[in-house]
Amino acid sequence: MIPFMILERKKSQYQIESEYYRIITEYGIENEFGNINDFNILMQIYSGAMREIGTKLENLDEEFQCRRIPNPIHHMESRLKTFESILGKLKKNNLPITLRSIQHNLYDIAGIRVICNYRNDIYSVADMLSKQPDVNVLRTKDYVAHPKPNGYRSLHLIYTVPVFLTDGPHVTPVEVQFRTIAMDYWASLEHELRYKNQTSDHHYEQHSRTLINCASQLDEIERMMQSVHDDLNEQN
Ligand code: GTP
Ligand code: MG
Repeated sequence: MIPFMILERKKSQYQIESEYYRIITEYGIENEFGNINDFNILMQIYSGAMREIGTKLENLDEEFQCRRIPNPIHHMESRLKTFESILGKLKKNNLPITLRSIQHNLYDIAGIRVICNYRNDIYSVADMLSKQPDVNVLRTKDYVAHPKPNGYRSLHLIYTVPVFLTDGPHVTPVEVQFRTIAMDYWASLEHELRYKNQTSDHHYEQHSRTLINCASQLDEIERMMQSVHDDLNEQN
């Protein structure tokens, strides 16, 4: 994930194309993916959808700053799923490896993470976006109200937004993950634990239990901080 406004160091076109052709040869999918332009056009639509939703969130963020009211958004990050990771997900789920299958089955090609200051901010920012007339909610997974057994908490929404191209609107999904700073802090460490475990970590079970415990303590701390924050803002 890269923060907004910071330019990613771009790979050269040559590097991108040679990697692309290496991957399609590895997968034996030259027939369907032989023309890199078709794939690029599809990715351009996802990138457009990510910009549409990103701009909506940036507009809200700017309005909070102008109105000098407590800003619920701490920061945002965005990413497009890589070609390799798209193919990996199709393969893992036994889905056809075609452009059409990407469009029909994967809703997280474009992803935005919104890191909020307080727990209630997650729901208020998600609501502000959900209510916009050109945005639709395709799916909601509330891991804040219902944390995963490993302790993972975040609110995931799949939005769809139209991207207008020369041939008309393309209604495109964008996955938005809303979480607090504490949830983000926890998820980074849990991700590191899972990633490291693929190599070697003899303490995996023990660390997993510690993380479940940390998640519930962070949850408790967030509730207390929310209540102080609410109280301070009621008095103002
Ligand atoms: P994916 O195949 O991972 O996209 O799963 P899914 O389609 O069932 O979606 P889900 O909403 O469960 O999770 C999507 C994304 O949320 C992941 O790609 C991660 O970024 C994040 N996520 C979900 N579960 C966890 C978790 O247990 N730990 C961490 N660190 N991140 C998670
Ligand atoms: Mg995903």
